[in-house]
Amino acid sequence: MSANYFRHDVLILGSGAAGLSLALRLRDDLSVAVVSKRELIEGSTRYAQGGISAVLDAKDSIESHVQDTLKAGAGLCDPEAVRFVVERGPANIRWLLDQGVEFTRDEEYVSAGGYHLTREGGHTHRRVVHAADATGAAVANTLEGRIRAKSNVTLYEQHIAVDLITSRHHPGQEQNRCLGAYILDRGTGQVETFLARFVILATGGANKVYLYTSNPDVSTGDGIAMAWRAGCRVANMEFMQFHPTCLYHPEARTFLISEALRGEGARLLLPDGERFMPRFDSRAELAPRDVVARAIDHEMKRLGSECLYLDISHRPSDFVVEHFPTIHAHCLELGIDITREPIPVVPAAHYTCGGVMVDHHARTDLLGLYASGETAYTGLHGANRMASNSLLECLVYSESAAQDIERLMGRYPDPVEVPHWDESRVTEPDEEVVVTHNWEELRRFMWDYVGIVRTNKRLRRAKRRTELLAQEIIEYYSNFRVSNDLIELRNLQEVSNLIIQSALRRRESRGLHYTLDFPFKDKNQHGPTILIPDTYQPRDRE
Ligand code: FAD
Ligand code: SIN
Repeated sequence: MSANYFRHDVLILGSGAAGLSLALRLRDDLSVAVVSKRELIEGSTRYAQGGISAVLDAKDSIESHVQDTLKAGAGLCDPEAVRFVVERGPANIRWLLDQGVEFTRDEEYVSAGGYHLTREGGHTHRRVVHAADATGAAVANTLEGRIRAKSNVTLYEQHIAVDLITSRHHPGQEQNRCLGAYILDRGTGQVETFLARFVILATGGANKVYLYTSNPDVSTGDGIAMAWRAGCRVANMEFMQFHPTCLYHPEARTFLISEALRGEGARLLLPDGERFMPRFDSRAELAPRDVVARAIDHEMKRLGSECLYLDISHRPSDFVVEHFPTIHAHCLELGIDITREPIPVVPAAHYTCGGVMVDHHARTDLLGLYASGETAYTGLHGANRMASNSLLECLVYSESAAQDIERLMGRYPDPVEVPHWDESRVTEPDEEVVVTHNWEELRRFMWDYVGIVRTNKRLRRAKRRTELLAQEIIEYYSNFRVSNDLIELRNLQEVSNLIIQSALRRRESRGLHYTLDFPFKDKNQHGPTILIPDTYQPRDRE
């Protein structure tokens, strides 16, 4: 163990759209650390396809974007948060343009400043700005280039945060606040002590709790689990979004087939070629995701089919290749020519609508601790996130957090020194199989019992299994040196438990939470599901 402290003004955990935009927004005279558990670019951000929603077209309106978001959220959005984000949309797209992101242009879109706007489920206007079908890569590459050029930002790649450090664990300070984090350097295997006046959780979502997911491996809910252990409230974890159309191919890892295909006319078909969405919703393929994912799940179960099909081959080939070059090329590599034939698709876990509760400044319950991006619960998404609203949320709340941090910087003293991570009582792990076995078991029962369609019986089964796993994981965690896989497994177990607890509390079907025991919406349940940890203390005043 090294005896040094890593000290910074601001410690940002995560290097996706939320983490990097926050780092770039902070003043150059602040010392900023950005920590990323793999290489800097790896996270959901780089895989985003469809685009970013914002009111850019003179024929569109803030009111319309607000209303569409509220409708998709099925009565559970916080209207103030929705307006807060939507109003800041156009300025945040301009900020991305200033950073150098090149969105797809189309001179026919004169009223949108010449930027092509696509359409996705739930949006009543074309309002999704994009870089062909690889918007996330365009954003991530640009922000990465910018951040690497900043001399006040130190990048810690291949470093994984294990837990937050709070003054509750190390008394001696006046207020209960976040002091930093213990962080495992994956290269050296040492857990280092990082201290900072402000800490930001920008660690993305928790979709790896499910066996099938559109997300990269890093989405293991670390920020949500760390905040929960540090005493922060967590909300709406029952609302896990399943993307209706991920590529189904036995030899391929999960790959998203963007909703923008449906926005441009693609149709969902049964194996016999019948178009089925109009039977489920008058908006057909452009109904919100929860509706489409459930319809697909229903038809797959009814027919005993391994997948259904998405067909855009009726559009001209040039149009398809120009608008969806990444999807076209990827499918072609697997022998599927999307200009000529339908694409086999299945739903997969895609987005975590709930998370660590924050206010408009992205402040959590713990002084000095902020959360932004998919880790946070802001109130924007309610019971169902509307497509392409999430990258926007990352940008808006990171901007807001940066402003708040700069305002409060002078008021926060440097954290006192705290004890280093203690490994004196642990040994090298004896059976790695415990970790891999539990990891697979957890993701399998979450898929089977806590998936698109739920019942109380299945949820209780899953709860019993998470409790058993918790015992084994805690025992393993207490006796052996931490490793990347063990840290992630511990967090996946914690977050699964939060999802199950929240799902059991919601005794109705609404948005993404559908249970056969309560198949209807209950008009009397209008609030979020808030889980409060035993260690929760109301936040001290600034
Ligand atoms: P991420 O981009 O996931 O970044 C998380 C970061 O945290 C990573 O750097 C990771 O390494 C790091 N990290 C995690 N845990 C730790 C730890 N313990 N210690 C240190 N670092 C850690 N949204 C849209 O709005 N439009 C779209 O078109 C769109 N398409 C999508 C397509 C796909 C395939 C996927 C998966 C998502 C899509 N989304 C889309 C959702 C959107 O991409 C994400 O919600 C958003 O990118 C999340 O950004 P983030 O910064 O919060 O997290
Ligand atoms: C997609 O392109 O379908 C993903 C959009 C999103 O998740 O917001």
